[in-house]
Amino acid sequence: MHFFTIASLLAATVSGAACGAKKSDEPAAPTFDVENFKAFCLPHGGACYYVFEVYKHRSGEDIPTECNTSVRGDGSLPSINDGQCNSSRTFDVIRNEDGSLNFSVTQQVTPISFTTSNHTIPADQIEVQDGQEVYVGPTSFGLYGY
Ligand SMILES: *[C@@H]1O[C@H](CO)[C@@H](O)[C@H](O)[C@H]1NC(C)=O
Ligand SMILES: *[C@@H]1O[C@H](CO)[C@@H](O)[C@H](O)[C@H]1NC(C)=O
Ligand SMILES: *[C@@H]1O[C@H](CO)[C@@H](O)[C@H](O)[C@H]1NC(C)=O
Ligand SMILES: *[C@@H]1O[C@H](CO)[C@@H](O)[C@H](O)[C@H]1NC(C)=O
Repeated sequence: MHFFTIASLLAATVSGAACGAKKSDEPAAPTFDVENFKAFCLPHGGACYYVFEVYKHRSGEDIPTECNTSVRGDGSLPSINDGQCNSSRTFDVIRNEDGSLNFSVTQQVTPISFTTSNHTIPADQIEVQDGQEVYVGPTSFGLYGY
């Protein structure tokens, strides 16, 4: 009986500690920070551009990776497959039916593995100006890995 009491006290303490640890869990930090993000289309069937800088979050990385890719568009910000940056990072844009964009940056971590970090650009952060879509949301945002 005595032993049983100590054991349950111990169990209570352990589960209390586990509970405390769970409570202090912060939302995951972004893996990358994007800055100076611009996305726009030039008029008259011209190209659409995605231009931005991407930094590894809180790494003190001070040399930006710059990404600047254009594709021919029809005035709507298009999907991009394997957009190029001036490092081994690449980016992708997938246009959803509701006009939102799934934006992601991929980095090779080992010769056979990659990490992909994502951000959704809601449709209401894209405006049509003079018949061309232009991104009007925040120019800086975090990318989250899964
Ligand atoms: C990418 O280009 C930017 C702007 O030209 C430059 O500051 C940066 O050093 C370049 N980054 C790499 C990894 O070459
Ligand atoms: C992106 O590339 C285009 C075409 O190569 C160039 O005109 C533009 O200046 C570049 N933008 C930046 C921010 O480097
Ligand atoms: C875009 O991202 C959302 C949220 O992660 C996901 O539910 C949706 O399936 C994605 N769209 C495409 C076309 O992959
Ligand atoms: C992140 O983006 C990649 C590349 O577009 C996609 O394969 C993956 O499903 C996305 N993950 C989430 C959670 O949206």
